[in-house]
Amino acid sequence: MDTRKITIFDTTLRDGEQVPGAKLNAKQKLEIARQLERLGVDVIEAGFPCSSPGDAAAVKLVAQEVRGPVIAGLARAVKEDIDICWDSVREAERPRIHVFLGSSDIHVAKKLRMDRDTALETAIESVRHAKRLCPNVEYSTEDASRTDFDYLCRVVEAVIKEGATTVNIPDTVGYAIPEEFGALIRRLRERVPALDKVTLSVHCHNDLGLGVANSLAAVRNGAEQVECTVNGIGERAGNAALEEIVVALRTRPALFGAHTGINTTEIYRTSRMVSRVMNIPVQPNKAIVGSNAFAHSSGVHQDGILKDRATYEIVRPEDVGIKEHRMVLTARSGRSALRHKLTELGYELDKDLFERVYQRFINVADRKKEITAKDLSSIVEVEVSKVPETYGLAALQFMSGTRITPLASVRLKKGNEIVMDAATGNGPVDATFRCIDRMVGHTGKLLEYDLKAVTMGKDALGEAMVRVEIEGGVYSGVGTSPDVIEATARAYLNAFNRYFANNH
Ligand code: KIV
Ligand code: ZN
Repeated sequence: MDTRKITIFDTTLRDGEQVPGAKLNAKQKLEIARQLERLGVDVIEAGFPCSSPGDAAAVKLVAQEVRGPVIAGLARAVKEDIDICWDSVREAERPRIHVFLGSSDIHVAKKLRMDRDTALETAIESVRHAKRLCPNVEYSTEDASRTDFDYLCRVVEAVIKEGATTVNIPDTVGYAIPEEFGALIRRLRERVPALDKVTLSVHCHNDLGLGVANSLAAVRNGAEQVECTVNGIGERAGNAALEEIVVALRTRPALFGAHTGINTTEIYRTSRMVSRVMNIPVQPNKAIVGSNAFAHSSGVHQDGILKDRATYEIVRPEDVGIKEHRMVLTARSGRSALRHKLTELGYELDKDLFERVYQRFINVADRKKEITAKDLSSIVEVEVSKVPETYGLAALQFMSGTRITPLASVRLKKGNEIVMDAATGNGPVDATFRCIDRMVGHTGKLLEYDLKAVTMGKDALGEAMVRVEIEGGVYSGVGTSPDVIEATARAYLNAFNRYFANNH
């Protein structure tokens, strides 16, 4: 079947990174960008360079290192922002400057304190300036779905005339309803014939849980580029989820008459990596990548699946990269067996990282009989997402029970020194956190705490994710161990190490 190719514009590293506590350093951005390249996205929006010198440097690194996809940076419609953005993306194989400005009355009058004509003039000047620097310019009419239609058409026409090569129509606050948003895209195409010469894009937020539905409605009505994030992460309720859009288009090609260039077998791995590196857990019932997405539990469903998978399965797990590997690694498996299994799982680790993974593997395998593929992925991804260790966990002991005051005693490694302390608390986690707070000299406020078993079984590896407020900033941390209190302590320390890495 001859279908249209939809451009997948991934903004995990920009809109996704706007989630509090999910801030990435340059190395982490590069790690995810490389995986996005393997996934086959067409455009990577690597960041918002004028937001900080650190983000400008991170975008620059991605632009220098990642080949294949277009590398975009976001800029407000301000000359200085556009210059900083260009400096960050210019070394990319295919750079793009993405300029945005509010177009709804509430944005124009209240946020920008302009009138419509001044905002239109600002849009024109910003595209003119960006175009002098870069042939590939995207313009976003922020809050388009709440913008007066005639004014929206004027802005779109004007920026195309100035040379914008992609025009993006965002549903910035997730306000639109699919029929309405689809009709907006169709009416825009009818009213602005110049849109036929450029790429028409959409960018939908999920405030009413309709980000994916609105994006798909837009595709059916002529959108050619979809902006989305892995796992649907992003501001507030998030952005349209990449994996859901891609798999919907793939599952219903006749309905959409469209396809993407995504290698769907890389979806699961990308989802895990983003969740781990950005410390944002994936809800179990999340479509395509949630841990229950392919689990059939009722007897009737299991019976149907055994007779013919198609009875209850519209997507095959292996098509999105979910495979069950038989793993027989134990504490006695040596480095070469570990290296072999890692290669089978698709991990290519440099010498240092491999050694860290090996040490952690031995530590875990000493306490857990068999190491499964999921355990190993968890160990690797935690090591990958580590920041320089100001403090490392050397040992942890705790006493707890129904009739005693919980007590934790902690030994931390700081450089070559070992420091130790003990504290009591409401429970073993509280006691451990109080003890760590005292040892590192800061008090962390626990905002979120997620603990789950990586695999089934009583000896399952526990994986803890925390989000902690430290001195006014929010830092996330992740840790694994067969002991859930130890996993939690590791995650808490990981958040502190992130704080120290950013503040010293
Ligand atoms: O949601 C939005 O409007 C945006 C723009 C910057 C594209 O993220
Ligand atoms: Zn957005």
